[in-house]
Formats: sequence, C-alpha cells, structure tokens
Amino acid sequence: MTQRTLVLLKPDTVRRGLVGEIVGRFEAKGLTIVAMVHRSIDGDLADRHYAEHVDRDFYPPLRTFVTSGPLVALVLEGDEAIEVVRALNGATDGRKAAPGTIRGDLALSNRENLVHGSDSPESADREIGIWFPAL
Ligand code: CMP
Repeated sequence: MTQRTLVLLKPDTVRRGLVGEIVGRFEAKGLTIVAMVHRSIDGDLADRHYAEHVDRDFYPPLRTFVTSGPLVALVLEGDEAIEVVRALNGATDGRKAAPGTIRGDLALSNRENLVHGSDSPESADREIGIWFPAL
C-alpha cells in the first residue's frame, strides 16, 4: 500500500554535510520526495513534533539538539514507506544500529542519530500535518 511518511534530517545531518548522502539513500531505494524544506525550529514546534516524549528524561537535551541549527524536513512516498524508511534508518541508538542502515553506518549516538521517521500511519498523518499543513 502506498504511504507517506515524515522524515527529519536533524541538525547533525546538516552540520556534518550528510544531507545528500542520506536523501540519496532514500531516492536510491525508490521512494519519492513529495515535499522538502530546510529550516530551523523553535522549542514550541519541537514540543509539538515530539509530543509523546516531552515528559521523558531524554527530552530536554533532545529539544536543545533539534533546535540547535537548521534541519531538513521531507515527506517521502512509496509502497510501505513508513516501515521501509524505519528499516533504512536503523535502530535509534547509532552504536547498536546494524551496518548498512543510515544510523549504523553514520551515527554513534542515541540522541544525535541523524534521522527521524514516523513510526505509524497515525504518526505520519499527525507529523505531516505539523510540518507541511498544505499537503
Ligand atoms: P527519533 O526517531 O527522532 O525519536 C525520538 C528521539 O529521541 C530519537 O530519535 C532520538 O534522537 C532521541 N532519543 C530516544 N531515546 C533516547 C535516549 N535514551 N537518549 C537520548 N536520546 C534519545
């Protein structure tokens, strides 16, 4: 089934010059870019995006991190795009993510893990509505 998913290339991706590398992996897989923007966000938007995490211990430094510089937000479309993107991203902790995945190959942190991908169709709808309300 064709799905859309919301992907963030977090500030570490932009700082490290990995936008092309990571977008290239999604394109090479066959996913279509439906929308894409380079922007910075404030804490309020971070809180909306990460609403389910705002009470977690790891959230305050995560909030500081995602507001620390520009990021790239995109919507990708394709067959089973939500699961496909999560598989390409790899496990949350870059130290444990499998080689061959984006995090497994390129990240060494649990927080600064380069990418975010929606974790369910409900999350994708909610997150796309936050980042790209015109879609
Ligand atoms: P993401 O897929 O964007 O979803 C929540 C984010 O919180 C996650 O990627 C990481 O960036 C961060 N995160 C999750 N768990 C931890 C943790 N235990 N310590 C630090 N950061 C975390």
